[in-house]
Amino acid sequence: MARLVGAICTSHIPAIGHAIARGLEQDAYWRPFFSGYPRAREWLAGVNPDVAIVVYNDHGLNFFLDKMPTFAVGAAPEYRNADEGWGLPTTAPYRGDPELSWHIIEALIDREFDVTSCQEMLVDHGFTVPLALLWPEGAPPGLRTVPVCLNTIQQPLPSPTRCFKLGRAIGRAVASYSQDLRVVVIGTGGLSHQLDGQRAGFINKEFDLMCLEKIVAAPLALTRFTIEDLAILAGTQGVELISWLVARGALDEHVAKVHSHYHIPVSNTAAGLMVLENAGG
Ligand code: DHB
Ligand code: FE
Repeated sequence: MARLVGAICTSHIPAIGHAIARGLEQDAYWRPFFSGYPRAREWLAGVNPDVAIVVYNDHGLNFFLDKMPTFAVGAAPEYRNADEGWGLPTTAPYRGDPELSWHIIEALIDREFDVTSCQEMLVDHGFTVPLALLWPEGAPPGLRTVPVCLNTIQQPLPSPTRCFKLGRAIGRAVASYSQDLRVVVIGTGGLSHQLDGQRAGFINKEFDLMCLEKIVAAPLALTRFTIEDLAILAGTQGVELISWLVARGALDEHVAKVHSHYHIPVSNTAAGLMVLENAGG
């Protein structure tokens, strides 16, 4: 049977992709941020996952305001990246796992999550930057991916509690897959940030540190917030925390914290990292 080993939650700021492309990891601005990642990479290398389920939000590359699924799941043999206008180098395509994708999609719809299935899907910086951070030498050739895309862009957004439940359903779907696979979930986005409007540059360290604490052993405390609460407390783009809640929901009730890291700011954003292992993992 497939086994969900653990989860990594991380910010996905495009500037990180620039820093990687230019080899700036040891610069004074970047070192305190990148210093958080070797431990996460070491854990991943130990886990050696066959599949990464990447829970993220698209920012206008694949979905735009005219058609905006609340939840979309990739079911393609590969996922291509393309120019989003951030000036990031376009990455090589990522391998998919259509069989596992369809198993997850069927299981989710069976559990009343009516997701949009995507047999073609471009993946943006919400997907590519975390993978570049976690696998700086490039994703291992055998690694397959399943993109799970959440709407954080256009109201109405899915609530934190709904996202946590989606995660639970994904966790059960993985556990019921007959192939012997090691699976990790990667949740991307956050932590607090707001990119435009009067509060552009808003960061809430106290709230972020509370989230980093609660996500480990008391994630239900975070599901009590509404989307509006999150926009007020974490900024309008801080609602990307819902990807972390999907990832946490996919894990067992009891998890072990492997590692966490927090650094402000990176660009306009509070950069957070959390590595969690299923207790049985
Ligand atoms: C930034 C953060 C994001 O999450 C994003 O999607 C784009 C930009 C930033 O802080 O620059
Ligand atoms: Fe974002």
